[in-house]
Amino acid sequence: MKTAICPGSFDPVTLGHLDIINRACKIFDHVIVSVLVNPEKHTAFTVKERIEMLKQCMGNLDNVEVVGFDGLIADYAKIRGAQVIVKGLRAMSDFEYEFQMALINKKLNPDVETVFFTTTAENMFLSSSGVKQVASFGGDISNFVPGCILGKIEQRLYAGGIQNES
Ligand code: PNS
Repeated sequence: MKTAICPGSFDPVTLGHLDIINRACKIFDHVIVSVLVNPEKHTAFTVKERIEMLKQCMGNLDNVEVVGFDGLIADYAKIRGAQVIVKGLRAMSDFEYEFQMALINKKLNPDVETVFFTTTAENMFLSSSGVKQVASFGGDISNFVPGCILGKIEQRLYAGGIQNES
């Protein structure tokens, strides 16, 4: 049984995230999509909201689970017996940060491997922060986020991106 964790802030989930999750579900027996805390980011949606939105997007994937965890991913992987952390890589600009994270996580939990999936060409430019910026100016984000949660995202971000969480 191979279990992978797809971690992220998912603030909000984008079509790029969904592509990576879908591909992970084809390779691993069980995929745990984990909403974790990135202390370097201010969020527009609460963890609960991000989990809800992710769950809405999982469609007919039957080997996926969506959870929140307030702690280190290395610890969470240990708790859940996950062997792999899956991250999406868009460009070289992602690499240095992701490489550092992978090495830290390996030191903290030698049993877990970080695996990078190359983003598809059409998602190379896509990021949650880009989505938030476009939406905060009232721009069209329908090509960037899943249709089923578009209304919820617009409702929040067109209104200025309120942070509901302490
Ligand atoms: O979508 P993001 O913001 O790039 O995801 C980053 C995230 C949340 C995966 C990362 O910040 C994280 O793993 N947070 C949990 C704390 C942790 O384990 N950090 C890594 C060691 S410093």
